[in-house]
Amino acid sequence: MRLPRSVRDADVGGRRVLVRSDLNVPLAGGRIADETRIRASVPTLQLLLERDAERVTVCSHLGRPKGKDPKYSLQPVRERLQQLLGDDRLEVLENTRFNPGETKNDPAFARELADENDLFVEDAFGSVHRAHASTVGVAELLPAYAGLLLERELQELGKLLGEVEHPFVLISGGAKVEDKLGVLQNLGGKADSVLVGGKMAEELREDNQLPFDVVLPTDVVAASEFAEDAEARVVPYDELPEGWLGLDIGPVTCETFARHIGAARTIFWNGPMGVFEWPRFAAGTKMVAEAVARSDAYSVVGGADSARALTELGLEDEVSWLSTGGGAALELLEGKDLPGVSVIPES
Ligand code: 3PG
Ligand code: MG
Repeated sequence: MRLPRSVRDADVGGRRVLVRSDLNVPLAGGRIADETRIRASVPTLQLLLERDAERVTVCSHLGRPKGKDPKYSLQPVRERLQQLLGDDRLEVLENTRFNPGETKNDPAFARELADENDLFVEDAFGSVHRAHASTVGVAELLPAYAGLLLERELQELGKLLGEVEHPFVLISGGAKVEDKLGVLQNLGGKADSVLVGGKMAEELREDNQLPFDVVLPTDVVAASEFAEDAEARVVPYDELPEGWLGLDIGPVTCETFARHIGAARTIFWNGPMGVFEWPRFAAGTKMVAEAVARSDAYSVVGGADSARALTELGLEDEVSWLSTGGGAALELLEGKDLPGVSVIPES
């Protein structure tokens, strides 16, 4: 894989550096609900400060605001970063998406961001699949380098695109089926088993266009309706009562999946096995999270829901790499070009 040049090789002493981080964190009532992405952004900022940058200006989007909207202000994130780094040379700009030029990759907004900066560091792995002013436009105006997080993400996820140790087990689930088929198409062929749960399983059962077989649930936790307190029972898949929904994989499937995961030497997991936000339909996702964490295979987990499931179980440090990217990780593994990466000169 083509690797962009690294901030470690940039001459930053006495220079003004603009950094694009992915500080798009979930907020709840104006507070930061999960600071994983903030913490992941710190090492690059620290490096720049330690290497005597004159000024470090951080920019990011947060959420999908339509114009200026105080609900999407980066102020809580700014405060948290100041607490973590405590340095007067650090500045955090307001949400880039408050400017309508951001998502249009408008040259005028890119020039505004580049203005009075000497170089640009792209560290927002979660956003490099977007060709926006703060990810691509500005990188065309200033000498651009990859930050430490971006670099590490490309290395870790990139391992799955190269030679891997076998058995290679791919686990896929969740609701956004369209987003994940590309990864199955690109990686599934070299996997020894492809385990599929969630909504994805239903679609593949009806019509599997993939050129290989997938392991589908043989039993499901069936619910009478899509509700947290619905009537529910475990049934073999082909005995799902008319009008009922499979909201989780069943215990026999859990055992099958756990056996595959237990034998793996390489694992990629993206997407929950059921509606894990509801405790009665969370067992399958929990089992996958635990089996992946227990394994000593090279394991990579991507996507916000799988990350959340791991974190809620306190298992986030038990996998080889937990990606901060959702869509970006998937597009990379689909073999697609990431515009925010290709715009950076090669190392
Ligand atoms: C994400 O959370 O997926 C990234 O920060 C990108 O956000 P977006 O999907 O709104 O562009
Ligand atoms: Mg997204």
